[in-house]
Amino acid sequence: MTIRDAVPADIEGITAIYNDAVLNTTAIWNETAVDTANRLAWLADRRQAGYPVLVSVDESGTVLGYASFGDWRAFDGYRHTVEHSVYVRADRRGGGIGESLMIALIERARAIGKHAMVAGIEARNEGSIRLHEKLGFESVGLLKEVGCKFGNWLDLAFLQLTLDSREAPDRLP
Ligand SMILES: CC(C)(COP(=O)(O)OP(=O)(O)OC[C@H]1O[C@@H](n2cnc3c(N)ncnc32)[C@H](O)[C@@H]1OP(=O)(O)O)[C@@H](O)C(=O)NCCC(=O)NCCS
Repeated sequence: MTIRDAVPADIEGITAIYNDAVLNTTAIWNETAVDTANRLAWLADRRQAGYPVLVSVDESGTVLGYASFGDWRAFDGYRHTVEHSVYVRADRRGGGIGESLMIALIERARAIGKHAMVAGIEARNEGSIRLHEKLGFESVGLLKEVGCKFGNWLDLAFLQLTLDSREAPDRLP
C-alpha cells in the first residue's frame, strides 16, 4: 500500500468510494451520487487552494481510500484551521488504511502551518470516532439533530487536534 497525492487518473476510484459513502452511509450528509466531473472539479479546487488530496493505492494503482482537508470556515480568522475527511473502500476497512491516510494528512497540515484540525463526525460513527481518538483528537462538542439522512435526525460530534504549540498566530498586514 502506498500513500501519495491524488492525480486525475485516480478520480474514478475516488468517485466510487465517495458515492458508496453517499448512498450507503451517514458519513456524508448528501443523498445524491455525483459523476467523475464533480470529483475532478473538487480535486482541482483543493489543489488550487494548496490543500492535499491523498490516496492510498495498492500495487496495481487501485484506489483503496482517500483523505483531504479544506478550510473549516471562509473567514480570515479561521485561516489556521482545516476540516478534513477520510474514506476507505468498504471491502478494505479495518486494515489500517484510514489510520495511515490520517497520519499522512496530519503531517501535511502541519507542513503548511495549520494550527487546528477539525473532524465533524456523525455521532454514531464509532469506527471514525475511535480512529480519531487513537490519533489524539479530543471530543470538543456535540450538535444535536443538526442533520438528517435516511429518515433519521443526525447528531454531529466535533473532534479536534491541535497541530502545534505556537503561542500566538500571525497578524494580517
Ligand atoms: C472510518 C474509516 C475511515 C476508518 O478507516 P479504516 O481503514 O477502516 O480504519 P483502520 O483500520 O485504519 O483503523 C484504525 C483505528 O481506528 C479505530 N477503528 C477503525 N474502525 C473501527 C471500528 N469499526 N470500530 C471501532 N474502532 C475502529 C481503531 O482504533 C483502529 O485501530 P486498531 O486497529 O488498532 O484497533 C473507514 O472505516 C471508513 O471509510 N468508513 C466509512 C466512511 C467514514 O465513516 N468516514 C469518516 C467520516 S468522518
